Amino acid sequence: MLVNAKDMLIKAAAEGYAVGQFNINNLEWTKAVLITAQELNAPVILGVSEGAGKYMCGFKTVAAMVKAMVESLNITVPVALHLDHGSYDGCLKCVEAGFSSIMFDGSHLPLAENIEKTSELVRLCAEKGLSLEAEVGSIGGEEDGVIGMGEVADPNECKKIADLGVTMLAAGIGNIHGKYPANWKGLDFGALEKIHAATGSVPLVLHGGTGIPTDMIQKAISLGVAKINVNTECQLSFQAATRAYIESGKDLMGKGFDPRKLLAPGTAAIQATVKEKVELFGSVGKL
Ligand code: 13P
Repeated sequence: MLVNAKDMLIKAAAEGYAVGQFNINNLEWTKAVLITAQELNAPVILGVSEGAGKYMCGFKTVAAMVKAMVESLNITVPVALHLDHGSYDGCLKCVEAGFSSIMFDGSHLPLAENIEKTSELVRLCAEKGLSLEAEVGSIGGEEDGVIGMGEVADPNECKKIADLGVTMLAAGIGNIHGKYPANWKGLDFGALEKIHAATGSVPLVLHGGTGIPTDMIQKAISLGVAKINVNTECQLSFQAATRAYIESGKDLMGKGFDPRKLLAPGTAAIQATVKEKVELFGSVGKL
C-alpha cells in the first residue's frame, strides 16, 4: 500500500531500527525491492532521483508504474514513493505526479534560502498529505553529476530546519554517495550525537548507505538515524550478476538472450542485497 513515510519513520525512531530507502531505476528494480519488502514484512521507501525519474520517462510514469505494481503484486507492506535529492521544481512535479514523499535538497543554498524554500514545501506537503525530507550539510560523492564535499552539518542549522516541521532530516556526518575511498575516516558520531540532541525526535536520514560497516550502521541507528539510503550497492550487485551470466556464456545458450532471462540474475541479486540491508537495519517484521 502506498503511504507517506511519516508513520513508518516515527515508529522506527521510537523502536530503534531504520527503514531502508532503495533507489529504483526501472521495472526490474522496482519489482525486486517491492517483492523483498513484502517477503520480509518490512516497510520500505522507493527512492527516485531526478536523473532516474528522467530515465524512466518522467515522474508521472514512475508513479503510475509503482501504484500499478503495488496493486498487481498485492503488496500490503507500507511503501513510500520518495523523490531523492529534489530541486524545488522537481518537488512540485512529484507532488503533482502522485509521489507520497519528497526530499528537498537545499543543502547547497544559503541557509536563509534553504529555510524559505523548505518552509514553503512543509506547507504544501501538509496540505497534500506527503512526507518531506530536508537536508543540511551536503553529502559527499557524486549524485547525478553534482559532486558534494561531504560536509559535517552544523547542529544549530539542523535545529533551524528540523523546527520548520519537516518529517525527516538528512544531515551530513562524513557520509558520501558511492563507494567509500580506502582512506575514509568513518562517520562522525560526535557530530551525529550533537545533531540528534539539537533536533529532538525528528527522524534522521543517513545517505550513502553503500559500504558502511555493520557496527557503524548500528551505532548510527542508536543515535537517531531512522532511514538509511542505499543505491550503489544494488547497482553493483546487479552488475556483478549480469556480468557473470554473460561471461559464463548463458546468453548464448537456447533462449538465454531473452531479456526476461538476461535480466533475471541481476534482479535476483538486487533482491539479495535488499534483504541483507533490511535485516541489517532491523526493519524485518516491523509493520
Ligand atoms: P549510495 O549510492 O552510496 O548507497 O547512496 C545512496 C543515497 O544516499 C541516495 O540518496
